[in-house]
Amino acid sequence: MEEYNTLDDFELENKTVLLRVDFNMPLDKETFEILDTTRIKRVLPTIEELMKKKAKTVILAHQGRQGSWDFINLDQHARALESLLGIAVEFVDDIFSEKAQNAIKNMQPGEIIMLDNVRKFDGETEKKTPEEHAQSELVQNLYPLADYFVNDAFAAAHRKQCSLVGFTVVLPSAAGRLMEKEIETLSKIIANPEKPSVFLFGGAKFSDVVVTIERLLENKTADKIILTGLPANAFLKAEGIELGDKTEEILSKEGTPENYEEIKQLLQKYKGSIYLPSDFAQKSNTERSEIDVAQLPTQYSLFDIGEKSIENFKDILSEAKTVFLSGPCGVFEETAFMKGTQEIFTHVANSGVFSIVGGGHTVAAVEKLGLENKISHISTGGGSLEKFMMGEKLPVVEALKASKIKFS
Ligand code: 3PG
Ligand code: MG
Repeated sequence: MEEYNTLDDFELENKTVLLRVDFNMPLDKETFEILDTTRIKRVLPTIEELMKKKAKTVILAHQGRQGSWDFINLDQHARALESLLGIAVEFVDDIFSEKAQNAIKNMQPGEIIMLDNVRKFDGETEKKTPEEHAQSELVQNLYPLADYFVNDAFAAAHRKQCSLVGFTVVLPSAAGRLMEKEIETLSKIIANPEKPSVFLFGGAKFSDVVVTIERLLENKTADKIILTGLPANAFLKAEGIELGDKTEEILSKEGTPENYEEIKQLLQKYKGSIYLPSDFAQKSNTERSEIDVAQLPTQYSLFDIGEKSIENFKDILSEAKTVFLSGPCGVFEETAFMKGTQEIFTHVANSGVFSIVGGGHTVAAVEKLGLENKISHISTGGGSLEKFMMGEKLPVVEALKASKIKFS
């Protein structure tokens, strides 16, 4: 028995279901077009099941944050869903006022509508408990029209926001199929990863990674950590290596003296378990050229790990039974600097090891390389996945558990 309900627990025919999904998409900065529909595709099993079981499905979702450039309405999200599903999805440009309420009241079994960006409601992101969120206008206006709340927004499961946790207090609630699959698969890995387990971090941010690594090693979820991308640069800097002005400039946008102090202590404590690159590929003009760590600093930007590091990391990964990939190894968008990411990711995908990939850029890299069918689990989560892997409780999951107890 799960600690939370799933779609198996509800009689859905002719019932109105509020379905919270994470359709927070990467958009083109100029055209605002959706660049990747992975998160929509992964929720299709839930939506198709609700349709087949003749529920009336009311979708709630967010895009961007108030004040950010990608904070837009969800019209084109509805169009994208519609074309993937092959049936009409009405977009209602309202969240909980009369227009939205009437649209819900007029629905037929098997129909789907999509309400507007829930983050247009100021109360969505207010710091409140689920019980307090349940008193909001959003929840109070919508819940009387619905029979069930289903949450399939795994990628937002680390947020305590109104539409994510408020309905669970007033409606019988369930995890959607994607949420179920993510939690089941990831729980197994945390509780009992096949050993040795190797976690690779890369990408263009590093400050959050430090505490994640510490927790993973402490909990023995990870046996070895491989660092590439900006995290590798930051760790080398913390070791006292001068990288050169270009890299220092990028690092200075994020790094504080405290960050480097934390990294130093982490390295002292777990020196033998953390693997750093021994060489890089730098961008001299537009060319790729290799440089050893011992030859640093350089006037050029470090855009990828070097060939010796690639071979070394492949050897370490060959011995693993569980591999977690979080972040590309370099600037994989540029062909000349795709090599590290391409060789490492392809090696993992082809080795048959149990592999998990998460985070928007990592998933994009896997897809660009055509490896998506060879990875054991591709998570839709970024922040939520990281929190989960660290062993932290996710507010959305806790809310679903509390709801099961309350409505049983
Ligand atoms: C995400 O994409 O990280 C989730 O949708 C949560 O969005 P947020 O980071 O803006 O809260
Ligand atoms: Mg985020």
